[in-house]
Amino acid sequence: MIFTVAIDGPAAAGKGTIARAVAARFGFRHLDTGLLYRAVGMKGGDPVAAARSLGPADLERDGLRTLEAGQAASRVAVIPEVRAALVDFQRRFARAEGGAVLDGRDIGTVICPEAEVKLYVTASPEVRAHRRWLEVGGEEARVLAEVRERDARDMGRADAPLRAADDALVIDTSELGIDEAVATAIAAVTGRLPRG
Ligand code: DC
Repeated sequence: MIFTVAIDGPAAAGKGTIARAVAARFGFRHLDTGLLYRAVGMKGGDPVAAARSLGPADLERDGLRTLEAGQAASRVAVIPEVRAALVDFQRRFARAEGGAVLDGRDIGTVICPEAEVKLYVTASPEVRAHRRWLEVGGEEARVLAEVRERDARDMGRADAPLRAADDALVIDTSELGIDEAVATAIAAVTGRLPRG
């Protein structure tokens, strides 16, 4: 069976948690596409060359989850040649046999517009910054500024900006508990699975 669940949305909205839960529930493979951009951003040197030569070791290096890596990722993600270098890998992952969940910014709009299920997971910047702050500590105001800066860059770029696909189901986790958000996502997938 070829079946893709595309999960897009801004940083710290809960995409990763929902993606992992959906993948575990249905036995699908999961790709956190933000990690690809984080690895490119942290590799140093020319980002286009980094994207073209990205390998498994780059995705396992330390520090990819930090705020700095997120900012570096968001900066290299505006470069069309960087995005182009990562498209084929993501598309093959999405359409390989066995079912796949991809979370990112442009999965339902650019990487896999034919995805069987598209979710757009969002929450207010304040709620997202608070969650991120609980993980990383430091000054909450700085985390909020970082979230806003990254939103502006990810939504404002010319190539594959962050936006909900027209046919995406929007899940706002500002006031929804994570269990309810996961249940909503699982119900959406269940409703689209082939019968029998
Ligand atoms: O999901 P994340 O926070 O790990 O993503 C880090 C950055 O990578 C994000 O701010 C923008 C970029 N990104 C992207 O442009 N397209 C994706 N599909 C995933 C991430």
